[in-house]
Amino acid sequence: SCSKNIYTYEKLSEIKDFLTEKISIQPKIGVICGSGLGSLGNAITDAVWINYADIPDFPVSTVEGHVGRFIFGCIRGVPVACMQGRFHYYEGYPLSICAMPVRLMKLFGISHLIASNAAGGLNPKYKVGDIMLQKDHFNLMGLAGLGPHIGPNDSRFGPRFFSMSNAYDEIILTKAKQIVERLNMQDKVHEGIYTCVGGPNYETVADVKALINLGVDAVGMSTVHEVIAARQCGIRCFAFSLITNVCSAEYGVDCTDIHSEAVLEVGKQMQEELQIFVEEVVEAISQD
Ligand code: 6GU
Repeated sequence: SCSKNIYTYEKLSEIKDFLTEKISIQPKIGVICGSGLGSLGNAITDAVWINYADIPDFPVSTVEGHVGRFIFGCIRGVPVACMQGRFHYYEGYPLSICAMPVRLMKLFGISHLIASNAAGGLNPKYKVGDIMLQKDHFNLMGLAGLGPHIGPNDSRFGPRFFSMSNAYDEIILTKAKQIVERLNMQDKVHEGIYTCVGGPNYETVADVKALINLGVDAVGMSTVHEVIAARQCGIRCFAFSLITNVCSAEYGVDCTDIHSEAVLEVGKQMQEELQIFVEEVVEAISQD
């Protein structure tokens, strides 16, 4: 947490200029694809793919199932910047680096962020393959003193102190719930509270019990710090979790379904439905 954030406004402006030369759109919405949700990028037309590895001074994502690239293009005619692969705290990156692409996308002019993630279900009603629309998050890492925005503040990315009381945009969430009804997905879609843990290990039974008692419905290893960075610079946020496994609050229940192949498999089963869902959310945001 004492390491300096090398992604200054000037550095991100350089990266933005590098990318701007390669694309012909001005993205209005940022989309972050979670584990097993990379196929959300399939909805993009007129796509330009840029690997993180080909961007000067960019980190690389090291997780299997995360390809690690930007896709610039359009979803239902709406210009988007889509991330296939993100940076996680458990890869060794500070949260400021994990959230850096959100600030980069802000420099492109995005007004909205759609973030997705794979998560473990804590709410006993949640089943594998369900979706949880994020009503809010519980910032466990923040309460422990970690965040993407600690250290000196550059007010060009927003104020030192800012509210998180409306972290997830009510208008987009309401529209998303209408889309869920229209697509007849209501039986497998919930609304709940997400939290991010450091990982990469999954939770102990004691962790699971504690998180349930804290009112958390799903647990993952991302998104919270991205939404914090987004809210600081005024981006309106929508996020959802794909429940890839359910956490056990009982000893002796072997959750062998918790491994990355299973996560990718659940994503595959849901990918067509989720692609349409995200397309509809993008369209709804653009009409706002
Ligand atoms: Cl069970 N826990 C966490 N922290 N992240 C997950 C998960 C569980 N399942 C998918 N991602």
